[in-house]
Amino acid sequence: MLPRAAYVDPEVFGWEQRHFFGGGWVCVGRSEQLRNPGDQRAEAVGTSSVLLVRGEDATLRAFANTCRHRGHELLPCGGAAVQKVIICPYHSWTYSLDGGLRAAAGFKNRPGFEAGQWGLIELPVTEWHGLIFVDGSGAAAPLADSLATLAELVAPYEMDRLVLAGQHDYDAAANWKILSENYHECYHCPAIHPELCKVSPPKSGENYAAAGTWVGGWMDLRDGMATMSLDGRSYGVALRGLDAAGLRTVIYVHIFPNVLVSLHPDYVMVHRLVPLAADRTRIECTWAFAPESLEQPGFDPGYAIEFWDITNRQDWHACESVQRGLSSPHAVPGPLSPDEDAVYQFVTMVARGYLGQPVWNPGGVASVS
Ligand code: FES
Ligand SMILES: [Fe+2]
Repeated sequence: MLPRAAYVDPEVFGWEQRHFFGGGWVCVGRSEQLRNPGDQRAEAVGTSSVLLVRGEDATLRAFANTCRHRGHELLPCGGAAVQKVIICPYHSWTYSLDGGLRAAAGFKNRPGFEAGQWGLIELPVTEWHGLIFVDGSGAAAPLADSLATLAELVAPYEMDRLVLAGQHDYDAAANWKILSENYHECYHCPAIHPELCKVSPPKSGENYAAAGTWVGGWMDLRDGMATMSLDGRSYGVALRGLDAAGLRTVIYVHIFPNVLVSLHPDYVMVHRLVPLAADRTRIECTWAFAPESLEQPGFDPGYAIEFWDITNRQDWHACESVQRGLSSPHAVPGPLSPDEDAVYQFVTMVARGYLGQPVWNPGGVASVS
């Protein structure tokens, strides 16, 4: 395990917010949440937030969520709007969807005032397989480079054509890394997930030895089980790009630092972690299905949502207990079991970051030098 301070110390948390969440690519949502021109959302990126805007030209842009007048947020963090312009709620400075200043009351024809100098501050944004990432530092290397090996793995799922059909927002009293570590092992499954063990053997599967800023693995479905649901049945349509192996497995991958992508034969679930404090994390969980599933008369995504809502709550319950346990001054880091090798890969990425090195997972056996 990482040292106890990594989970409980507000100073470590502040460092992570600046470096992991505000200092490079971080997932801020799914493309489908900003589908149409004029769609706007504000999302946290480290200690500040960004305004995401879908332009008239369908281009997605990200701006620092701060008005060029006196700094009011353009939208409250977590908020959304649909408008043909961006309007600051304070003195109504108005920007076009590409960030240019369009109107500022009382400034028209003022000598020395150049509207062209007061556009919103743009940040790098990338849409990657239906997920939106923003680089709060403005200086990170291209996201696609660090996810090249993962792109091959997720391509058959065609995430950018899937349709959102459910969302749950959770607030867990646990550090974001405890939630991440929990995602990376099924060593806990026999003890806390009876429903999951019914459809997927907890000891099945393996982790990928892939290079990049991600870590993950896959698990089998039991014979006769079509997907992760309470009865193992799918009430949707299998994703059209999957081969026979893809129809028998569930892939679990974590793109550092904050997004967990769970690829099922018939749906893709995404957990996006938004750290709020050393001991608190908001989790946005979304489920997306093939358009063919949603076109089925009476289609109900509940079979997937209900299964994972039960499992999520079991996980958060355990993670919150870990957080409380680690608040003990007597807590000492323990050893990881052989079944927790992906946890090891993840904490090693974190450790590299703490040492000022790129978090990049070299693939194979992780090591810190
Ligand atoms: S701070 Fe935005 S208009 Fe004044
Ligand atoms: Fe779990």
